[in-house]
Amino acid sequence: MAEEKIRIQTLKKMKERGEKISMLTAYDFQFARLLDEAGIEVILVGDSLGNVMLGYENTLPVTMDDMLHHTKAVARGRKRALLVVDMPFMSYQVNPEKALVNASRFLKEGGAEAVKLEGGEEYAETVKKLTTAGIPVMSHIGLMPQAVHRIGGYSVQGKKEEDEKRILKDAKALADAGAFAIVLEKVPTLLAKKVTESVPIPTIGIGAGPYCDGQVLVIYDMLGFDDKFKPRFLKQYANLKKEIIKAVSRFKKEVKEKKFPTKKHGY
Ligand code: KIV
Repeated sequence: MAEEKIRIQTLKKMKERGEKISMLTAYDFQFARLLDEAGIEVILVGDSLGNVMLGYENTLPVTMDDMLHHTKAVARGRKRALLVVDMPFMSYQVNPEKALVNASRFLKEGGAEAVKLEGGEEYAETVKKLTTAGIPVMSHIGLMPQAVHRIGGYSVQGKKEEDEKRILKDAKALADAGAFAIVLEKVPTLLAKKVTESVPIPTIGIGAGPYCDGQVLVIYDMLGFDDKFKPRFLKQYANLKKEIIKAVSRFKKEVKEKKFPTKKHGY
């Protein structure tokens, strides 16, 4: 029997029964298929595609067109997982109306089922506008990569008492505004625990410790494509960089040595 489609309601029930949620990023058809087959509950077309796919230094140059293009490919590859897409920088910050127009494109044209946007209480009105229109919103607080220049880097957020209070207040305001989940990025473990216990919606952590309701990682990071990117929060589950270089070098060697193709590869 095919496993049941994951919906935002599924995630709420998972939180209620204490079952952890797994979320990974994907940016193309093939990875979407693999993640779906492995049973990952949420696939995020993250704007991290700016870094890992497009080679930008940060996520700021990523456009609506970039996100739509990749969302369509992922949507064609996944069947069961909930498909969430990041709203890129300046696609929602201007005003809630512009946010609504842009978010609707991800559902109408992209095949996404929800959008994610960075920002705390100041975006509660936007979250409300989108959810009222039928667009589920995943919020994202703590370290917000789109604010890299304001923050001055990618440091842990919420270490000072006033920042901790603000993050807790943000989480409650976003939950009240109708967000169905909240990503907590790079916040202290005990703050993530407090947030998780104080909101009725699931929290999904990245660098936020084990007490969140779920965990997310960037697929290329957890598969070990970049041996230089090793932040403390990251666990590499494979070393695909090594495997890919090994396979590609072997191909090259066999071509040069006339060992590939052999008769059996011909027609
Ligand atoms: O863009 C992204 O991939 C993200 C996750 C790391 C949460 O926002």
